[in-house]
Amino acid sequence: MQVQMANVTRLCGTKGIVTVNGEYPGPALLAREGDRVVVRVTNRVAHNVTLHWHGIRQLRSGWADGPAYVTQCPIQTGQSYVYDFTVTGQRGTLWWHAHISWLRATVYGAIVILPKHGVPYPFPPPHEEVPVVLGEWWRADTEAVVRQALRTGGAPNISDAFTINGLPGPLYNCSAKDTFKLKVEPGKTYMLRLVNAALNDELFFSVANHTLTVVEVDAVYVKPFTVKTLIISPGQTTNVLLTAKPFYPKANFYMLAAPYSTIRPGTFDNTTVAGILEYQKPGSPSMSSFDKDLPLFKPVLPRFNDTGFVTNFTSKLRSLATPQYPAAVPRSVDKRFFFTVGLGTLPCPANTTCQGPTNKTQFAAAMNNVSLVLPSTALLQSHFTGVSRGVYGSNFPVTPLLKFNYTGAPPNNTNVAKGTKLLVLPFNASVELVMQDTSILGFESHPLHLHGFNFFVVGQGFGNYDAVNDPAKFNLVDPVERNTVGVPAGGWVAIRFLADNPGVWFMHCHLEVHTTWGLRMAWLVLDGSLPNQKLLPPPADLPKC
Ligand code: C2O
Repeated sequence: MQVQMANVTRLCGTKGIVTVNGEYPGPALLAREGDRVVVRVTNRVAHNVTLHWHGIRQLRSGWADGPAYVTQCPIQTGQSYVYDFTVTGQRGTLWWHAHISWLRATVYGAIVILPKHGVPYPFPPPHEEVPVVLGEWWRADTEAVVRQALRTGGAPNISDAFTINGLPGPLYNCSAKDTFKLKVEPGKTYMLRLVNAALNDELFFSVANHTLTVVEVDAVYVKPFTVKTLIISPGQTTNVLLTAKPFYPKANFYMLAAPYSTIRPGTFDNTTVAGILEYQKPGSPSMSSFDKDLPLFKPVLPRFNDTGFVTNFTSKLRSLATPQYPAAVPRSVDKRFFFTVGLGTLPCPANTTCQGPTNKTQFAAAMNNVSLVLPSTALLQSHFTGVSRGVYGSNFPVTPLLKFNYTGAPPNNTNVAKGTKLLVLPFNASVELVMQDTSILGFESHPLHLHGFNFFVVGQGFGNYDAVNDPAKFNLVDPVERNTVGVPAGGWVAIRFLADNPGVWFMHCHLEVHTTWGLRMAWLVLDGSLPNQKLLPPPADLPKC
C-alpha cells in the first residue's frame, strides 16, 4: 500500500487528501480465516503515518497492530514498514485505518475475512456481498481542524457530510452524481458489510421498505435478528442480509445514515447521507442505469438522541453460542476493574484565553481521570527492551481515585490528570471491566475499542453501576463478542476478556475527538511461561522515532 496524496472533489469543492493508493475510500483487503497477511506500507506524504487493522487479534504479533506511539513509531516520509500478521479464529468484516492524529478521516478501507474453504456461513449464502463503509467528509483539512482545536482548547469543527463508500449522495449540494447505488435483482439476498469509519459520529442506518437481518458484528457471528434500522458506532462493523422483493417493485429506495448524538448543548453534523437501492428491470438485458422517474421511498430514522432505540437494538445482540461457534465467556474472574470514562477539563495556560467549557479551561477527557499522554517513543518497544523509565508508569488506577456520584451532580473540580500509565496483567488473566459514563460536561455515549482482544458484553445499564446487585443479571451464556462497545450515555457497560495475548494494547474511545482529548489508556499483558505464550521479537524494519 502506498500512502499518497490525491485530489478529490466532493460538495462542490476539491481538496488534496491523504489516501492509500490514491483511492478514497481505500481498497478493501480480502483475506480468508487462517491467512497470513503481509502488507508493505510506503509513506509518500508529508505526514507521519501508521496503519491499524481494526479488530484483528494480532496474536503475539503486536508489532503489526499499528497505533502510533503505542506499538510502533510512525512510518516517516519516504520510509516503509511491513505489517505481517495471521488472521486467526475470525471471519466476517473488519476494517483498516490510519492510526495517527486524524488521518483516518480519509485513510480507511474494509477488511473482508471469508470463512475457511469449505466452511459455510451459518446462514443462507447471499447472492452477493457488498462493503458499505460509512464515513464523514470535511471541506477543511482535518489535520488543520484538530490542530486548531488543540490550540484553542475548544471543540473541533464538525464534518460537513456523511458518506457511503466515500459518496455523500443527493441530499447534499453538487452531490447527486456522487451517490452510492446498490443494484439488486428481485428475490435475491445481499449481504451488506457495514463499517462505521466516521471520526466522530455514531450512525443510524436504514433502507426504505426493506428489512435488515443482522448476522455478524465485529467479525463474530451473532444469533440472527431482523430490524428496519440499526445503530453502528465508529469502529464497529455489522454484516446484514437484505432480501430483495420477490417481484420488480417499480420503485427506488433510499438507504440513509444519520447521527445518534446525546451531546447537549453541543453541535454535531446533523445531516443525512443517502444511497439508492434500485432493482433490475425485468427483461432488461443487463443492469440498466438509474430510472429516476420511478417513485423513491425514504426510510424514517429515529430521532438524533433516541437512546431508547439504541438500548433496544444493542440488547438484541447475542453470540451464536453453538458447539461450532461457542461463546467462550470467562466464567470466573481473576481481575476486576472499574473505570470512569468521560470528559473533563484542563486549566487554560497562563495569560491565555481558551475556548473550552469556560474561557479559563480547555476540553479534556480521561479514564479514571487519567488523560493519557502518548510518549515520543513506542510503549511496546519500551516494554520489550526493558527501558520503561521516563516513558511510562505501571500504575494506572484500577478504580477511580476520587469517588463521586458519577451520574449525579458533577464534582466542583473537573480537572483531569495527565499521565502515561499502563495497567499490567499477567498472561491469561481473566478480566472483568466495568466502564461507567460520567455526568462531567454532560452524558455522552462512548464507543470504547480494545485492541488485541475481543471481549464479551456481559451487562449494561443506566445510572451508577451497582457492584452488589448488577452482577447477578450478567449474561454469561450468550453475550455478544466484539471489539468496540458503546458505554451508554449516563450508564455503564461490563465486559469480560481473557488476557491471552502478550503485548501493549491500546483502549480508547473511537470518537476521535475524545481520543485526542485523552480518553485512552493501554494494557500491558505480560508473557506467559511457555514459548508460544510470548510476544515475538520486533521485525527488523520496525520504524524508529
Ligand atoms: Cu480503530 Cu485504536 O482503533
